Amino acid sequence: MSAGGLPMVVPARGLPARVRIHEVGARDGLQNERASVPTAVKAEFIRRLAGAGLTTIEATSFVHPKWVPQLADAEQLFPLVSDLDVELPVLVPNQRGLDRALTLGARRIAVFASATESFAKANLNRTVDESLAVFEPVVRQAKGAGARVRGYVSMCFGDPWEGAVPLRQVTRVCKALRDMGCDELSLGDTIGVATAGHVRELLALLNEEGVPTDVIGVHFHDTYGQALANTYAALEHGVTTVDASAGGLGGCPYAKSATGNLATEDLVWMLHGLGIRTGVDLGRLTATSVWMAEQLGRPSPSRTVRALSHKDQ
Ligand code: HMG
Ligand code: MG
Repeated sequence: MSAGGLPMVVPARGLPARVRIHEVGARDGLQNERASVPTAVKAEFIRRLAGAGLTTIEATSFVHPKWVPQLADAEQLFPLVSDLDVELPVLVPNQRGLDRALTLGARRIAVFASATESFAKANLNRTVDESLAVFEPVVRQAKGAGARVRGYVSMCFGDPWEGAVPLRQVTRVCKALRDMGCDELSLGDTIGVATAGHVRELLALLNEEGVPTDVIGVHFHDTYGQALANTYAALEHGVTTVDASAGGLGGCPYAKSATGNLATEDLVWMLHGLGIRTGVDLGRLTATSVWMAEQLGRPSPSRTVRALSHKDQ
């Protein structure tokens, strides 16, 4: 390690020069917390993330408050952060969610589909095709309002109820989201079971079926400790949008085996060590996750947060 808690920079060939981190801690992270986090703390978290140099910060979800009570304060939270000069995507599951988001001025929208029937039912109370039919007018209207739309696809690499997920089942949903106008896709490994070869295969098949790499982001949960290896495989393929959650917060309330996302600090350590620019200040980001861990009353699972925060003690 070089001085100042930063990795030594040793670039590797064939990787992107810059990666856009899509920070999901305030949404994917906090949606799964047992304790309810005060709205003011969430707003402060988002402000600190922006202060650490993150430029895309998923703020919340306009979903049914009974389904995800942790994010029931979306109406109160969004106006507290909407002045920030960063992109603030929000999740919407349907027309009602879109109306709520657009009324508050949100212009970065994400819909979330599933590659499997079991998760579509558990998460959205719809079949895969029913949920795609719900999203179609939502995406059209969001685009008409000038929004940029991301389409998540969950359970791309495995499903807790169905086991292995055929690649073509995933690409079908990806293409449907693209066809309805999603600007970007995010390939969700919701339960963290993917391995690097699997990631390569899916990305290659998507390209073969006409989905270009530059619209693809990757969203790895770290259940089996594979998230960084999987990210590296995606970078080698040319992916430049990577989802991560500050401090490794996260999970999904409707997928029991899901744990936290790839920790943003672990990702930044790897990217900066490879000489890949992110615009993130690792020290400020780590301080943010330490602060958030204090608010939640338990330590961050991120190895990098632990290493850097112990170093200072
Ligand atoms: P439903 O019960 O089938 O809803 O839930 P409905 O359409 O039958 O409507 C029932 C009532 O809910 C109606 O009210 C609606 O107005 C109301 P009533 O007329 O009975 O008084 N309602 C709403 N209220 C507020 N906001 C809304 C809304 N929609 C309906 N948006 C629904 C269907 C989709 C709403 C529900 O299943 C839901 O909210 N699901 C969200 C689940 C969720 O947020 N999951 C976590 C995010 S996904 C994730 O984490 C994965 C990801 O990270 C990627 C990865 O890791 O793979 C993205
Ligand atoms: Mg997720």
